[in-house]
Amino acid sequence: MNYTVRKFDAVIVGAGGAGLRAAIQLSEAGYKTAVLTKVFPTRSHTVAAQGGVAASLGNSEEDHWHWHMYDTVKGSDWLGDQDAIEFMCRKANEVVVELEHYGMPFDRLDNGKIYQRPFGGHMSNFGEKPVRRSCAAADRTGHAMLHAMYQRNVKVNTQFFVEWQALDLVRDAEGDVMGVTAMDMETGEIVVFHAKATIFATGGAGRIYYSSTNAFINTGDGVGMAARAGIPLEDMEFWQFHPTGVAGAGVLITEGVRGEGGILRNSAGERFMERYAPNAKDLASRDVVSRAMTTEINEGRGCGPNEDFVLLDITHLPPETIMKRLPGIHEIGIQFAGVDCLKEPLPVVPTCHYQMGGIPTNYSGQVVVPRGGNHSEPVLGFYAAGECACASVHGANRLGTNSLLDLLVFGKSAGETAVNDLKNSVKAHKPLAQDAIDRSLARVDRLNHQKDGADVHETRLAMQRTMQKHAGVFRFKDMLAEGVKRIDEIAGQVAQTQIKDKSKVFNTARIEALELDNLIEVAKATIVSANARTESRGAHVRDDATDTPETPDGRDDRNWLKHTLWYREGNRLDYKPVQMKPMSVDTIELKKRAY
Ligand code: FUM
Repeated sequence: MNYTVRKFDAVIVGAGGAGLRAAIQLSEAGYKTAVLTKVFPTRSHTVAAQGGVAASLGNSEEDHWHWHMYDTVKGSDWLGDQDAIEFMCRKANEVVVELEHYGMPFDRLDNGKIYQRPFGGHMSNFGEKPVRRSCAAADRTGHAMLHAMYQRNVKVNTQFFVEWQALDLVRDAEGDVMGVTAMDMETGEIVVFHAKATIFATGGAGRIYYSSTNAFINTGDGVGMAARAGIPLEDMEFWQFHPTGVAGAGVLITEGVRGEGGILRNSAGERFMERYAPNAKDLASRDVVSRAMTTEINEGRGCGPNEDFVLLDITHLPPETIMKRLPGIHEIGIQFAGVDCLKEPLPVVPTCHYQMGGIPTNYSGQVVVPRGGNHSEPVLGFYAAGECACASVHGANRLGTNSLLDLLVFGKSAGETAVNDLKNSVKAHKPLAQDAIDRSLARVDRLNHQKDGADVHETRLAMQRTMQKHAGVFRFKDMLAEGVKRIDEIAGQVAQTQIKDKSKVFNTARIEALELDNLIEVAKATIVSANARTESRGAHVRDDATDTPETPDGRDDRNWLKHTLWYREGNRLDYKPVQMKPMSVDTIELKKRAY
């Protein structure tokens, strides 16, 4: 197959929040920076983030980064690395104020300061009571953020390649990275983007599940590319189910609705969260709320003809508050549930929302891989940020609004580290690894010749249904083991998928097939890691994990206070310790998690 080579100082894959933030750093420093994106930047999935970005600005009441750090460690069920969490929480105010200076239209308090609302698991004074920490632009925070950062990138001359599908990482025998192969989605032209720094900011892979708040573009491209290039994937068993997806449609209803006073009710009209989380109630951590909702439904207290959802009620709020703070939710209710939330409660169910694990990075945004014993080393020329990365700040469960914070802090950090490396150590392009390019081209070429293979759509659907059934909100030992086998079979079919009608749906079908190659790596990593982790922690809850004084709620710190690393080669697992030591404060010691 023919291809051309284009040289840049840096190539960034993904133009959501993390990619845009990293690009600002590089372009402002004068480096020639290409951003590849499947969709126009302001349509990236960050656009769907609604409720806000966490920062302890303390604009409405007292707050502190150390309280935010405590909440994040507790939210992670102690699986998050405490140095990275301290780094993120301390940087929050700086990156939010920077964003404000880029022109982000935050809502305002009467005194002109940024408006902040409460969100699940964010508390004052080390877990005492909910605090207003989420900086919001109505219920369209991610949308506003993308526009502000895209405009900044235009100003600093970042070069965008819109509707380009990255194919594979170009990594040489020493393990160094020198760019990516990519395809122009419209023409099928293949280009090797040869770079001194490669940053992955490709977002999540929620499309491995059948019911998801994620956009169709969230196919784990960066994670799949990293896995194929031999990089292990960290903590992939941990998937967040957002409590409030619109029943039957999956569309996100922001937690900001509960932040503004919304209440979850079962078929008896009961505010059931009072039983599960007496202190935080509807604003408990997401995993806690999703499990409570699922239990209500499973025990027969669900609503509707099939008793398969619960209700989110805001009819008691003043209509002017709803229309000012939650206008998008009012619209979503009408369009996707046929419900006017000013008058009637919204039907909601827990829906796959966020991938806590990903490509392992340190808090400087460098991709790090184990090199013997407990020692890890950065991969030269390779960085990752945002949902595709695991800096490990979310551990076993992410707090709402920490995702927008993660992508700002670690997008900036990855960009800054790349700038320093370009200045100080990586001054020339490394020669391209021809065998990596050849493998990538062969993967694309297979689709031109494959006959009698499985249908892409049917294979993807089989994967999604399997993941939904075998690795959902509650997980069961036997189902997990069976899920491993089933996903393995489906992976065999993915390797043989066929584009049925090349003339009619040429590149769309081709792109979907290439995306499925990435999704299946994520699904394999998830189910194998979930099957192996025989405890309950955060979003990963198993029926066979026992609740004893040493293993509260099934969490087994003696055996499982460690990160999982999944390797594609051999479908095998390894582990590495959790970093319990923060940067400057005392360790937040292990305890039973309650809200
Ligand atoms: O509920 C929400 O607005 C989602 C926020 C998040 O996932 O951080």
